[in-house]
Amino acid sequence: MNVSVRGVSRHYRTVAFDAPGNAVRLIEQRLLPHDFQIVETANFRATARAIRDMVVRGAGAIGATAAYGLAQGARAFKGKNPERFERHMETVYQTLKEARPTAVDPVNAMNEVRAAMQPGESVEEKQALALAAAEEFAHADVRHCEAIGQLGAGLIRDGMRVLTHCNAGWLAFVDIGSATAPMYAAQAQGKKFRVYCDETRPRSQGATLTAWELAQQGIEHRIIADNAAGHFMQRGEIDLVIVGSDRTLGQTGEVANKIGTYTKAVLAKRHGIPFYVAIPLSTIDWNLASGFDIPIEGRHESEVLGAWGVTEAGRREYVRVANPGSSAVNPGFDVTPAELITGIITPAGIFKPRELRKKRKQLDAIGGGGR
Ligand code: MRU
Repeated sequence: MNVSVRGVSRHYRTVAFDAPGNAVRLIEQRLLPHDFQIVETANFRATARAIRDMVVRGAGAIGATAAYGLAQGARAFKGKNPERFERHMETVYQTLKEARPTAVDPVNAMNEVRAAMQPGESVEEKQALALAAAEEFAHADVRHCEAIGQLGAGLIRDGMRVLTHCNAGWLAFVDIGSATAPMYAAQAQGKKFRVYCDETRPRSQGATLTAWELAQQGIEHRIIADNAAGHFMQRGEIDLVIVGSDRTLGQTGEVANKIGTYTKAVLAKRHGIPFYVAIPLSTIDWNLASGFDIPIEGRHESEVLGAWGVTEAGRREYVRVANPGSSAVNPGFDVTPAELITGIITPAGIFKPRELRKKRKQLDAIGGGGR
């Protein structure tokens, strides 16, 4: 996507790799929308920290970051001993896997990179294969998002009001985004529509990241408080909901996504509003058989008790909002059952959530995305 920073417009990918420096290059998302900075992680532990501390966030983006982090760890290994290399790679894999638990994309991405390394006959060959596979994961993420855009654009008609939750835009992927892809494709087709961005407390990804992206793209949008969606739905002022997902169960069609998604799905059902989830293939978990088995990340209570922002003087500051002495509990994600979801927009077609299993061959045929 093209980003205009201090008057200069340039194309950026959210996640990239500097091969000579063996560094992962990321947009420092914690500073957005107030400042745009590119940062580099010097080794796989720093890459894992960047995922954990939310320098980079969003399912596809942390998937690509983990894939590059695995390649980075492989390439940093000195020596030729295959057993020592395998032990080292296990440490790299586990460190990156543990950075964030709910999104399945990092695991799918790293499994794809590891599988691609298998045929390598020496450490050196495996290192080269790792980087090639990580690059391919990132390219596939972009291809998948493009396909989601083409398929999903048909859902958006002129004059529609579309609600989205959290950030499933290009910042949450390598480029383009999942939930935003149909919006960008519809815009390219000349359609006029408005997007309502849920603020998405406690980290405010909707108010900060999605709103910034849509503004960059010139898409008409309004930020609404999380609690306002029901009001607009009741008055007939929302026509369509499109969200992303951090893990979608291929067996059941259940969707884990940012906390608050389930509430929006219940409201959409109540008001007969179509509720779609957009996902690249790396977001599908074919193994788990129940949404209750999805690990839900518990995040720090400070996110609920206060907020980060920028003062008039331009200083980034955290302010306490809640009653001093009160504590909070802060689940990062929730799970939406299949019956509340109208359709899943995949790169291979728009399917009913419970159809995913039957469509596995068709989805696999697309290739890439850490299946
Ligand atoms: O906790 P975050 O900021 O990493 O949240 C992840 C997300 O961006 C959302 O859950 C999103 O809607 C899923 S699609 C990438």
